[in-house]
Amino acid sequence: MSYDLIVIGAGPGGYVCAIRAAQLGLKVACVEGRDTLGGTCLNVGCIPSKALLHATHQLHEAEHNFEAMGLTGAKPKVDWKKMLGYKTDVIGQNTKGIEFLFKKNKVDWIKGWATIAGPGKVQVGEQSYETKKIVIATGSESSPLPGVEVDEKTIVTSTGALELGKIPKKLVVIGAGVIGLEMGSVFARLGAEVTVVEYLDRIIPGNDGEVAKTFQRMLGKQGLSFIMGAAVQSATASKGKATVSYSLRKDDSAHEIEADCVLLATGRRPFTAGLGLEALGVQMTKRGQIATDAHYKTSVDGIYAIGDAIEGPMLAHKAEDEGMAVAEVLAGQAGHVNYGVIPGVIYTWPEVASVGATEESLKDEGRAYKVGKFSFMGNGRAKANFAGDGFVKILADKETDRILGAHIIGPYAGDLIHEICVAMEFGAAAEDLARTCHAHPTYSEAVREAALACGDGAIHA
Ligand code: NAI
Repeated sequence: MSYDLIVIGAGPGGYVCAIRAAQLGLKVACVEGRDTLGGTCLNVGCIPSKALLHATHQLHEAEHNFEAMGLTGAKPKVDWKKMLGYKTDVIGQNTKGIEFLFKKNKVDWIKGWATIAGPGKVQVGEQSYETKKIVIATGSESSPLPGVEVDEKTIVTSTGALELGKIPKKLVVIGAGVIGLEMGSVFARLGAEVTVVEYLDRIIPGNDGEVAKTFQRMLGKQGLSFIMGAAVQSATASKGKATVSYSLRKDDSAHEIEADCVLLATGRRPFTAGLGLEALGVQMTKRGQIATDAHYKTSVDGIYAIGDAIEGPMLAHKAEDEGMAVAEVLAGQAGHVNYGVIPGVIYTWPEVASVGATEESLKDEGRAYKVGKFSFMGNGRAKANFAGDGFVKILADKETDRILGAHIIGPYAGDLIHEICVAMEFGAAAEDLARTCHAHPTYSEAVREAALACGDGAIHA
């Protein structure tokens, strides 16, 4: 069997790359060892966690806001098994969708785990395949933390958290990053007592500091408690209970906390085991990622890599964009990803979204900037929908007014951020956004008001 391109891994990076390459006329196969396509994102990540977020947000609305709107009656009860069934159904719809797209675009799915036997040679089980080019899109796995014994039952990663046998009464989350807060807030809404233990003195490192502070306050109101500046030393399970040991960085004092379940969420690392990269001499970075050039080519001719397995933020959409770009490069076009405009979204309620520079990064650069900020409290639609908490913040160059970054915490922040992404892609000034008519009443008006606040001032502030 021979191909123009074999993509290894059918997550958002790999399957998008395979489809785009086929659309551009290449003969393509994609190797995937899981029983279903879609990788971590569709099977045990983005998609299932969003199903649980949606279900628990509806529960929150029913418990907290229905009565105020005149919707009275019995409050819904949680049937956890049924909720997991709904989540599984959502996964199935999505993974089958990719199978359909593969057929439609004539991408062959080679089932099994691939090893690269040499440039142009892919081995899957007993079968060998010849190919002109190889793209590695094998993604990432949860990083282990020394002393923390993951059994995916009592001490779990995000994978186990999506399959718990029952809702824990007490959940300890290690790490106040994206996974910890997304999953922690889901279980808090389901009634768990959630404690987040975080090494740093702030949550969501890398995000805008002001957003992080507001976010921590909101999560606190939702019942999550935080132990900050705490380095977790170990987590052990015995008879369905877990003990987490940590030391406080300020005084080195040692502490313990008990839980029914512990979620380890202290980061992910590239998953490249079994590919045979060492034998091929593929160069890796110091952090264990596959090193590539600007066109995703590794140190070995004919082998390319994208997504979580290489440098950059571990985000499905970053992998997708790289998948399309490398497919275009392999088809003789000029594939390109603008790394300055990659949005990041934390899917809690409310959502947190960001793109481009933070105030902290601009200060570090010594760049002169201005801030336009608008609270959702001044947005009529948000007020009507019990969603007035949060704000939009746009950072623009002080001299030129060009948008440098934006940070939103509030309703549908993950959708709202994209008009700012488009504006940034076009090199827009805040005034360009401010002069764009926005329909009333929409949440988007808050974005426009923040843009107005970069100039002569917002109207509803
Ligand atoms: P993360 O890197 O976002 O956060 C890990 C947190 O754990 C950090 O705050 C860190 O300071 C803390 N930590 C590390 N060691 C610790 C220790 N010993 N004790 C206490 N705290 C400790 O990692 P996370 O949440 O596991 O996510 C992994 C990757 O997956 C990230 O790159 C993330 O961007 C990505 N992801 C993105 C999602 C999204 O875009 N919505 C959803 C889920 C994952």
